[in-house]
Amino acid sequence: MDRLMTNGKRDFDKDAQSWDENPVRRELGEAVGKAIAEALPLKSSDAVLDYGAGTGLVSLAVRQRVSRVLAADSSHGMLDVLGGKIRAAGIVNIQPVFLDLEDPAATPPTVDAIVSSMTLHHVRDIPRLARIFFSMLGPGGRIALADLSTEAGNFHPDNTGVYHFGFAADWLRTTFATAGFADARTTIAHTVRKQVTSGETKDFPILLLTAVKP
Ligand SMILES: C[S@@+](CC[C@H](N)C(=O)[O-])C[C@H]1O[C@@H](n2cnc3c(N)ncnc32)[C@H](O)[C@@H]1O
Repeated sequence: MDRLMTNGKRDFDKDAQSWDENPVRRELGEAVGKAIAEALPLKSSDAVLDYGAGTGLVSLAVRQRVSRVLAADSSHGMLDVLGGKIRAAGIVNIQPVFLDLEDPAATPPTVDAIVSSMTLHHVRDIPRLARIFFSMLGPGGRIALADLSTEAGNFHPDNTGVYHFGFAADWLRTTFATAGFADARTTIAHTVRKQVTSGETKDFPILLLTAVKP
């Protein structure tokens, strides 16, 4: 119960310091970062939002191709770890920012593209998030969002703050198309193989949704 915050969310601050020590997370972040960087036709002048950036595994993968990355997260602990990493590496084009788009008072920034990895399943209202993402982009603005394909609820040993047991590819495409996006496509960016609580080893395919604002 200590991981259940008063707002029902998972407390990512507690996991931040040790987040990058888990090789499954590092491998997933790097594979998805690479798939996103390949899927998005980014320009060197672009400003990109990484939503739910965590320790910046995806931000670090895309930042060399763009002008700047807003690495947004609702965990100060995650943002502090990312801040330490970018300072140590002398990286100047990743800006860690606190942002929780589930908060009605949040001010969504305007960007050229939005990327995200493994954050959607922690957001309750995905159709609303899709509309907010749409409002943050200009014509031609793109999204590349990675998350679990529908799973049985055993990806996380503790489902606190997990509002979706993955997503069906057609549901994701339809939801973002309904928000106004065009050319919504899904591919499998990576497959996580890991042991679940029962002791079984299971494969978890990671979907990558791409779409464009007309
Ligand atoms: C599973 S982690 C993924 C982190 C990172 N993208 C990666 O691939 O390693 C999910 C991240 O989403 C963040 N998050 C959860 N809900 C959020 C929200 N409503 N707004 C912004 N970030 C959120 C968490 O703090 C956490 O850093």
